[in-house]
Amino acid sequence: MMKRFVLLLSLGLATSAGAESAADVWKAKCAVCHGGDGKAQTKMGQKASMGDMSRPDWQQARTDAALRKVIAEGDPRNSLMKPFKDKLTPAQMDALVGYIRTLKAPAPP
Ligand code: HEC
Repeated sequence: MMKRFVLLLSLGLATSAGAESAADVWKAKCAVCHGGDGKAQTKMGQKASMGDMSRPDWQQARTDAALRKVIAEGDPRNSLMKPFKDKLTPAQMDALVGYIRTLKAPAPP
């Protein structure tokens, strides 16, 4: 009984120590504003008229480096987008850029 508890506890710690996937980080820290699908169909999305990350033109207009910089340092155009460099590892921020790319909607046929 005790052994099982300790095992569960160490599993939990392993996850919070950085084994989280980009999808988990997105869900935990980004989706509240950007939405699970990046479309920003959220209260915050409406209030701040946030961009729809699933749009191909949105995706095309931004380089990976630009997305990475906003994640690390916040958005100079909108202070609601906070810097995450003290909350995430560089690897997590890189992975989030890749995750944002997966939010792109498929091109219409
Ligand atoms: C409190 C709400 C909020 C949270 C939480 C949040 N963002 Fe943002 N984010 C914004 C707002 C507002 C903007 C600026 C408006 C826009 O670009 O849609 C923005 C902008 C961005 C941009 C730049 C968009 C552009 O147009 O170039 C990126 C990239 C981004 N966020 C990624 C993230 C990631 C990754 C996370 C989680 C680690 C996150 N955001 C968490 C509100 C938030």
